[in-house]
Amino acid sequence: MKILVINGPNLNMLGIREPGIYGDRSFSALEEFIRASAKELEAEVSLFQSNHEGEIVDVIQSAYGVFDGIVINPAAYTHTSVAILDALKAVAIPTVEVHLSDINSREEFRQHSFVSLAAQKTICGLGFDGYKEALAYLCENK
Ligand code: DQA
Repeated sequence: MKILVINGPNLNMLGIREPGIYGDRSFSALEEFIRASAKELEAEVSLFQSNHEGEIVDVIQSAYGVFDGIVINPAAYTHTSVAILDALKAVAIPTVEVHLSDINSREEFRQHSFVSLAAQKTICGLGFDGYKEALAYLCENK
């Protein structure tokens, strides 16, 4: 099982960025957590982070025929990006959307997700554990 994990803009600032919402653990701690979770689940994982919408579209397109699943936290692009939604629909790779915070209990503009329209499942509000749950879901439903 080969899974591509994509993190969107500003997630590289974890630990510094709004710790009251996103916690005080760093982005590299998140990457370590994801790698350890994948190992436990016997899945092969590739990690990608970008602050640029077009780069995220490019990496989704290049996943076609290569990866069996995608875990994506599109961050702010969740709420704005039809391009990322269309890329996920184009490759039709089973996808789980993850958010560290509970977007449904935050500002109204965060309560709509374009990416949800292409995702098999959305997990939010579980912090780092949400990524593990997403990997487990993809492994169980391959
Ligand atoms: C986020 C929630 C988004 O609304 C926000 O723009 C982010 C992070 C989360 O993980 O909780 O950057 O996706």
